[in-house]
Amino acid sequence: MSTFITLSTGRRMPMVGLGTWKSAPGEVKRAVLAALDCGYKHIDCAAAYGNEQEVGEALALRVSPGKVLRREEVFVTSKLWNTKHDPEDVEEACRTSLAHLGLSYLDLYLMHWPMAFQRGKELMPRREDGSICYSDTHYRDTWAAMESLVDKGLVRAIGLSNFNARQTDDIFSIARHKPVVNQVECHPYLSQVDLLSHCRSVSLCVTAYSPLGSGDRPWASPDEPSLLQDPQLGAIAQRYQKTAAQIILRWHVQRGIVCIPKSVTPSRIQQNLQVFDFSLSEDDMRLITSFNRNERFIVPARDGKRVWRDAEHPHFPFHD
Ligand code: A2P
Repeated sequence: MSTFITLSTGRRMPMVGLGTWKSAPGEVKRAVLAALDCGYKHIDCAAAYGNEQEVGEALALRVSPGKVLRREEVFVTSKLWNTKHDPEDVEEACRTSLAHLGLSYLDLYLMHWPMAFQRGKELMPRREDGSICYSDTHYRDTWAAMESLVDKGLVRAIGLSNFNARQTDDIFSIARHKPVVNQVECHPYLSQVDLLSHCRSVSLCVTAYSPLGSGDRPWASPDEPSLLQDPQLGAIAQRYQKTAAQIILRWHVQRGIVCIPKSVTPSRIQQNLQVFDFSLSEDDMRLITSFNRNERFIVPARDGKRVWRDAEHPHFPFHD
């Protein structure tokens, strides 16, 4: 099986990339170096992760003239944050990510969420009661500004993240440059069967974030299910003589989903790329897909502990 997927632009994107969300400053540079040194050719970043400068330090050591990798051998993604949706802010936000990463272009630039927050420097602008200050900038207008980034050569392709099927269609209906990727939460407890088939029908590649269930999410509580400790997955892993993480990642890539496991542990970083030397039987693929519980780890809605408590914004993606 190929380690790449071909995007609708004809460009190739590696099926496994290194995720950098939650990788702490002081850790992420070493993680990116470990990944590039063991064969990763795909790094997933975002302005909101607050660590693009450190990712850039690692890229500078390995990806530049005279270094191990040529720029065109590595696929780098970044994302436009919600406070930068105003069309006037989009280019500057992209240029800031480029400067932090030390790159002259991005392979892919995603709109991180469909909802816009109030403009400004604060990542999560809030009112006194803790609720988020949204803005009414529509994602369609943000998209038009992102298309200009392609025209200017700052990014090779643009895409979406956290968009539902209806919002995806909405973008397709107005797009001059079509989105090539929708990056969404996806793992065996949230198998995204319907969204995946919808995206496939319009040649939109799906990338899974939190592909291993993001056990290190800051709001995790001990009573929540741990995907990597799932006994049924453990049993499958034992049968294949692989780790539970490898079984999950293989399930993703065998479904045609790109995945971006995050790790700051060199041995795990290496292990997570080793999913192309075995395949899961059709029965096991179906079995893993049946573990679906529609369990969202990101933006949890249990016990009033939502990340965004006022998720009733009209563009909030998880209502339908
Ligand atoms: P760490 O970064 O300490 O190595 P996700 O990609 O779904 O967000 O999951 C990230 C979490 O999964 C992190 O806690 C990461 O730990 C852990 N992790 C990543 N790869 C593996 C692996 N192969 N085995 C066990 N845990 C892993």
